[in-house]
Amino acid sequence: SRVVALVPAAGMGVRLGENKPKAFVHVGGSPMLTLAVQGLIASGSVDEVVVMVPAELVDETRALLPVSPTPVHVVPGGAERTDSVRAGLDAAPDAAFVLVHDAARALTPPALITRVVDALRAGALAVVPALPVSDTIKSVDAAGAVTGTPDRSGLRAIQTPQGFDAELLRAAYATGTQATDDAGLVELLGTTVQTVTGDAMAFKITTPLDLVLANTLVAQGGN
Ligand code: CTP
Ligand code: MG
Repeated sequence: SRVVALVPAAGMGVRLGENKPKAFVHVGGSPMLTLAVQGLIASGSVDEVVVMVPAELVDETRALLPVSPTPVHVVPGGAERTDSVRAGLDAAPDAAFVLVHDAARALTPPALITRVVDALRAGALAVVPALPVSDTIKSVDAAGAVTGTPDRSGLRAIQTPQGFDAELLRAAYATGTQATDDAGLVELLGTTVQTVTGDAMAFKITTPLDLVLANTLVAQGGN
C-alpha cells in the first residue's frame, strides 16, 4: 500500500525568531526541512513525500531537496498548519496511508518513522508517537489560577510522524474543524488513535533553546 508522507513546512517560526521561515533555518549546516525529508527517505518506509512551504518559496525548495529515487513534491502551504496539511492531502490522491510529519522535528530517527508505518500495516487506523511527560501539568483558568492537576501517569506528550489510514484522515479534514494536531481531528470522529513509543530525538525545534540543542546534537553525531 502506498505510504505518502506530508511535511508541513509553511510556518513562519515566530517563536524561533530567526530571519526566515523556520523550516529553512539550518541545523548542523542543513535546512531543517532537508533533514526531515532525508529522515523519511532513510526509513525505507515511505513511497512518496509531499512538502508544503510558503508559496513564494516553492521554486527554491525544489532546488534544495535531496535528489532520490523516492519522489518528493513541493506544493504551497496555507495560513494555518491545518491549511497546509489539507493542501498536502490534495496533492496525494493515491495514498493508502498518510504520515504527517513536522519539518521542525528535523532529527527524528528513521526507526520511529518505521514504527508508525508498521502499526498502520498491522491494522491501526491512526497512530501517534507518545512519550511520558516529565513536568507536572496543570490546567488553569483565564486568570491563571490552577483548576486541576491531572494524574501524570495518564498523560503523554505527542510527536510526529502521525500516521493515518488515508480515507480516515480525508474524512477528518472534510469536517472543516480545527485542531492542534491531526490525530485530534480523527478523535472528533470517534475513531481510536493508537500510540507507539516516541523518541526524545523527535523533539520539535520551537525556541532558540531547542535550536542550540539540535545543533549540539548534530555536532556530536548524536542523531
Ligand atoms: N506549519 C505549516 N503551515 C502553517 C503553520 C505551520 O506547514 N501555516 C508547519 C511548520 O512549518 C512546522 C510545523 O507545522 O514544521 C509545526 O508548527 P510550528 O512548530 O508551530 O512551526 P511555526 O508555525 O513555523 O512556528 P511558530 O508557531 O513559532 O511561528
Ligand atoms: Mg506554529
